Amino acid sequence: MVISLGSINMDLVVRCERMPAQGETITSNGWFSNPGGKGANQAVQAARMGSRSMLVGRIGSDAFGREVMSSLSASGVDISGVVADPALPTGIACVLVEHSGENRIIVAPGANGAVGATELRILRNVLQPGAVLLLQCEIPFGVVLEAARMGHVAGATVILDPSPWESVTIGPGVFADVDYLVPNESEARALSGTDDMREAAAVLLGLGARTIIVKMGGKGAFAVGVFGIGEVPAFSVVPVDTTAAGDAFQGAFASSLERGVSPDNALNIAMAAGALTVTRPGAQQSMPDGAEVAAFIEARKRF
Ligand code: RIB
Repeated sequence: MVISLGSINMDLVVRCERMPAQGETITSNGWFSNPGGKGANQAVQAARMGSRSMLVGRIGSDAFGREVMSSLSASGVDISGVVADPALPTGIACVLVEHSGENRIIVAPGANGAVGATELRILRNVLQPGAVLLLQCEIPFGVVLEAARMGHVAGATVILDPSPWESVTIGPGVFADVDYLVPNESEARALSGTDDMREAAAVLLGLGARTIIVKMGGKGAFAVGVFGIGEVPAFSVVPVDTTAAGDAFQGAFASSLERGVSPDNALNIAMAAGALTVTRPGAQQSMPDGAEVAAFIEARKRF
């Protein structure tokens, strides 16, 4: 089983030709809303890859909460671990996507900020040896660390996406319960204090994580740990919207590990899922299923 403990958002997406400058008003090309949140997105991708996927988190008792729950359920995610907060609203994310497909996101946590003891109790009851636990940093960081510890004690594989990086409190051994730390380039830079990805990975390994995978978008990935040291080339695609590409990567990677795929193949599958997600707008609505990922990898072998 793949378990994701993390954020659940409604994404409010505005498309624009370019990002506005400070103090500037520009007109968008259109907008839409769709279910998002790193925790929820990763759970959806794991479910689409064929894993039993459970989400633990918190929504508000409101219309956005009801909408995201029914969408998660339709995607095959077990939502029995999602709590409805009586007072706080469902989290939202304001997502600006420019012509190039690059985005900027501001998250208003709402109920995600109240994830705590209740959710950890739910998690403790479902963790089991062989499970893969997905964590991100849009819920309180102390809860993330405790969940990682519980995951390790239970014999699960722990994958941490340190995003948003500002939520991470760096200290000696902070990633000691993390099997795979999966930052993107800017997060690796911010957390390590260096621009050189090899040095950054070494710094992050020194904080306790057993394997580091730095996601570098169109440049591929750089991995250090169970893979040895290596650069993995990207699948080349025309980007439409990069939102949730990292979540697709983590969800597909977790699902692959949980189904017994080797870490090297899991990395390739994760890169393909991320690449496909970039070719479509939105978060959960843009994520591929296992058959599409397999066909994409097969097709790319021929050319
Ligand atoms: O990683 C993409 C996600 O980040 C979006 O869906 C948004 O909700 C924010 O959590």
